[in-house]
Amino acid sequence: MSYLVTFAPSGQFVAVEADETILEAALRDGHSVSYHCANGSCGDCRARIIEGKLADHMHHDFIFKGADRLQPMLLMCRAKPASDMTIEVQEAHSAADIPHQQITATVIRRNFLTDDIIELHLRTPRSQTLRFLAGQHVALTIDDLPPRNKSVASCPCNGRELQFHFRRSAGDPVTRHVFEELTLRDTVVLSGPSGSFIMDDSSDRNILMIAFETGFAPVKSLIEHAISLELPVPIRLLWMARETTGHYQENYCRAWKDACDNFDYSLLGIDEEAVFADPGDTSLTRVVDLLLPDLQAAGEADVYLAVPENLFLAIQEVLKEYPVNTMHMVYDNMKRSAE
Ligand code: FES
Repeated sequence: MSYLVTFAPSGQFVAVEADETILEAALRDGHSVSYHCANGSCGDCRARIIEGKLADHMHHDFIFKGADRLQPMLLMCRAKPASDMTIEVQEAHSAADIPHQQITATVIRRNFLTDDIIELHLRTPRSQTLRFLAGQHVALTIDDLPPRNKSVASCPCNGRELQFHFRRSAGDPVTRHVFEELTLRDTVVLSGPSGSFIMDDSSDRNILMIAFETGFAPVKSLIEHAISLELPVPIRLLWMARETTGHYQENYCRAWKDACDNFDYSLLGIDEEAVFADPGDTSLTRVVDLLLPDLQAAGEADVYLAVPENLFLAIQEVLKEYPVNTMHMVYDNMKRSAE
């Protein structure tokens, strides 16, 4: 038995099953509602009941004060509905709606995806979930090394578990530490989130995503978010890499394609020189030619680019001729593999 809970003022809604709280259902379905501790102590998930009945409002330490005491209120992390409900909630619609947070997380897994790419899994404390929008990045500080901005590779719907992709980079002390010294249960300080490489959930335009190597990380977060929201629009991913090992999580692409009628992808190999070429260089032109059929077909689409800057500029030049919305993110910490 499930009940429909509608969020005001957005009108978005979620089906809440008998064994879950409103917050659990909202996060599962990719809604960016306000919350923090998820255990009834901070009050960030409080919502005003407009109509409907509660089945259970589990124990909480948070005390409603001021005007909240005079209104029917609930904490989404503690509440289960007993009927269809409408509640007034705070939802994040832009990066500016998400507060800056600093959280000490713990390393729970390191997956070597290839010899040169590692997927780092971190978990935040039980009472602190990092709020972010799919596609955003955070600064990671490990020991006394300089902070490193990394895109979150997982969906906000994953809750306390966060994933980050690191590519080995000779001479870089942070990646060297991640590859050679970081161990399970080490701590990493997260600070953020930042960045506006986020999805326009309200758009009904087709989506074209172009990623270069670990630019796949924020794109993966966006695609998982789109799937959790069950966005019906066609989504196409072009994933470029210098070597076949650069497509280090093709298994995700295959699984999305198998599970979703509206998802498709292609893997593209490109020259090393093209990645760092100057604007106008023929190697860049060759890459853009490779993308051209999809760019031409992307009319009236939202285009998300997680690629090196010069390639971004070359693609943007081509897109000028088409009525597309372009979201830009420059690939972080990019160096020639020989460096
Ligand atoms: S998230 Fe803190 S009280 Fe619900």
